[in-house]
Amino acid sequence: MESMISAGHIREAIEKLPMLSPNVSRLLQLLAGEDYELDDVVNIVKYDAALTARVLKVVNSPVFGLLSPVTSLERAISYLGKWIVVSTVLADSTGDLFSQPLDGYDGQENALWRHDLFAAFSSCEVARFARQGFETGLAFTAGLLHDIGKYVFSPFWKTAAPQALERIQQGSVADYLAAEQALAGMNHAQVGYEMARHWKFPESLQQAILHHHTPQQAPEEYRALAFAAHLGDMCAMMAGCDTGNDGMQYQLDAGYTEYFEITSQSLAQILLEAEVQFKKAVSSLSSEEEVYK
Ligand SMILES: [Fe+2]
Ligand SMILES: [Fe+2]
Repeated sequence: MESMISAGHIREAIEKLPMLSPNVSRLLQLLAGEDYELDDVVNIVKYDAALTARVLKVVNSPVFGLLSPVTSLERAISYLGKWIVVSTVLADSTGDLFSQPLDGYDGQENALWRHDLFAAFSSCEVARFARQGFETGLAFTAGLLHDIGKYVFSPFWKTAAPQALERIQQGSVADYLAAEQALAGMNHAQVGYEMARHWKFPESLQQAILHHHTPQQAPEEYRALAFAAHLGDMCAMMAGCDTGNDGMQYQLDAGYTEYFEITSQSLAQILLEAEVQFKKAVSSLSSEEEVYK
């Protein structure tokens, strides 16, 4: 059957996305680098009034129960930790990307945010089990951004999603990704990759986004990162933090054992640790802003 969705229309929608602010681009370059310190994050945020205000608002939210307000960015950032700051900055700078309901996937408001944040903490935990030196900060960012493609893909996908589930059930396609490809001529990982190119993300993040469901196909130098995002994504779904009707409808690539020393026992440990960090982050971010609930 001829696909009703045109990949050309999806590409047009990507081209129309507003560019990211220069500070956010700088932050992403930093996050994709070898290693970065809290100070580097502070140096970018402090020259951006809107971002500074947002970080201070989070640290001064009632959940922290501070007796006197924190007014210095340095103190705020060291108090919150760089992960929460990085997530806040990214969410703040990308408009409604993470919060908009994913209608095409039957995903609720903020479902993408919750899924991506859980995946980010999980990817970071996964990275700790790497057989070879691995940048955990980069894994966090890859986890946080892996599904951005769903933001653009979702409105196009709405009419096709029921057919996709039917095909998966019938066994005529291997998984949800293959169903997207068959019905839309493009899948959400490819859409995310084109968004990442449009926004000039570093190559490592582009590849992790493109291959988060097909890590084995990532170029060798980015394969471990793609596997970290792949496992982080699976952990988020296993924890019930999915984005809607595609939850657990993807295949797990067991090839991760080549890059990470992970047993079923350590996977349980990763899930547990990610959940603790996720809950902490959600409560600190949601106390002032309903949007993160
Ligand atoms: Fe995905
Ligand atoms: Fe995902």
